[in-house]
Amino acid sequence: MSHQTVIVLDFGGQYNQLIARRVRECGVYCEVKSYKTPLEEIKAANPAGIIFTGGPNSVYLETSPRISREIFELGIPVLGICYGCQLMAYTLGGEVSTCVTSEYGKTETEYDKSSLLFGSISDMPEKAVSWMSHTDYVSKVPEGFRITAHTANCPAAAMENKEKKLYAVQFHPEVNHTQYGIKMIDSFLKNVCGCTGDWTMAGYAKTAINDIRAKVGDGKVLLALSGGVDSSVAAALLAKAVGSQLTCIFVDHGFMRKNEGDEVEAAFADWGINFVRVNAKEQFMSKLRGVSDPETKRKTIGEEFIRVFEREAKKIGVVDYLVQGTIYPDVIESGAGDAAVIKSHHNVGGLPDYVDFKEIIEPLRLLFKDEVRALGRELGLSDILVDRQPFPGPGLAIRIIGEITDEKLDILKDADFIFREEIAKAGLDKTVNQYFAVLTNNRSVGVMGDGRTYDYTLALRAVETSDFMTAEFSRIPYDVLAAASNRIVNEVKNINRVVYDITTKPPATIEWE
Ligand code: XMP
Repeated sequence: MSHQTVIVLDFGGQYNQLIARRVRECGVYCEVKSYKTPLEEIKAANPAGIIFTGGPNSVYLETSPRISREIFELGIPVLGICYGCQLMAYTLGGEVSTCVTSEYGKTETEYDKSSLLFGSISDMPEKAVSWMSHTDYVSKVPEGFRITAHTANCPAAAMENKEKKLYAVQFHPEVNHTQYGIKMIDSFLKNVCGCTGDWTMAGYAKTAINDIRAKVGDGKVLLALSGGVDSSVAAALLAKAVGSQLTCIFVDHGFMRKNEGDEVEAAFADWGINFVRVNAKEQFMSKLRGVSDPETKRKTIGEEFIRVFEREAKKIGVVDYLVQGTIYPDVIESGAGDAAVIKSHHNVGGLPDYVDFKEIIEPLRLLFKDEVRALGRELGLSDILVDRQPFPGPGLAIRIIGEITDEKLDILKDADFIFREEIAKAGLDKTVNQYFAVLTNNRSVGVMGDGRTYDYTLALRAVETSDFMTAEFSRIPYDVLAAASNRIVNEVKNINRVVYDITTKPPATIEWE
């Protein structure tokens, strides 16, 4: 696939993936690479531009990430952000000092609109808010540079050497709080780097389909479909490319949400692929009898999953390619720290060791999650699958605290379904990132009609998060909670109390087990 490419050089800042996503939102393909990437490799990628990210260090520390001066001599445009700005100044002979007061947060900034970076943004005034987060600042710009923005405490909030196509900003244009920030990135990409914006999902789909066809030839392809966004979009892509040669195995362990197994099956009914649904609920339940420890549950389900998949795969015989739904955040090499590990994420842990195949295909390796969804839409995949909220592999099994029984599973499915309906009815399904019900193992006394009840407590959980590493509990209006609670205790047998989980992550996790 040949697209104009921009390299985001990672110096360990917290917004690095956000920068990459912004570049792609501007229609430009980019890759995140460690600052340790050899210059030869950068040159070989023939990038249209390079962006230096922020980072947690001061340029004067011994251990701080550095960059060779030669990178500025390649004739490739560079945009330095925050630490990247300071590093550019320091490397090219400018000076970096420590602020008397660190600047943090929204900061009134004055821009020089004669700069190519800001001048083309027609609706941008000379004064606007930028997002700052720094302790050091550029106190003297290198020779050949001029200052193009300043704040009350930061004399060089932006600098440039137009002739050499070197630009730098002390603030964070990638963060939404910086007014016109995305337009500044767009301006760098289009006006300085000359990018045309050739990265579109329609284009990606077309090229990916052709590439897959060329690679697979008349070989057989196998995919483990979980019904999650990534494996569903991977399946759709493969179906478009080599439909009749593709077999999708969907192991239904019985812990999907209400109707979900049927929805997944229905979504792929017309795609001309071999779709194998394995209804293995009894097999999973028998292995989980008497198990209440969360880790044992997870392990048991993971192992059983592999066993079922292996058994089904053997029926197909030798396959040439196994598809995995790995996405770009799983692939990115981190710039910070010495380990610089590349995480290899297996959607279905361990499968490659168990199934005989020649090669793995990872058709989503280059895409961020929102791009995966856009690709799914482009391919015509149903909204039910494309907009699906994250769902853990072990499913409802880890949302039933304690031992799992058929009765508890039914209770949870019904209650969870009602909660989801009420969230959707209130129009919150697009803003709340994950929401579900948990059946606790706690029973309490209630009163219904004139009688005493002694039934389960159901917990509702809803969170807002961008990365699922940290999360806030969602401030769902009381009326919505009241409607859900009222319906649940009336419509679902054996629940007489509903509580709402108001803990953040950390210290809690999103799931209860
Ligand atoms: P926690 O509970 O760790 O969850 O805060 C973070 C996110 O990960 C999801 N999750 C899983 N996803 N397999 C998955 O594919 C799993 O075993 C698993 N466990 C948790 C969880 O739903 C949340 O979105």
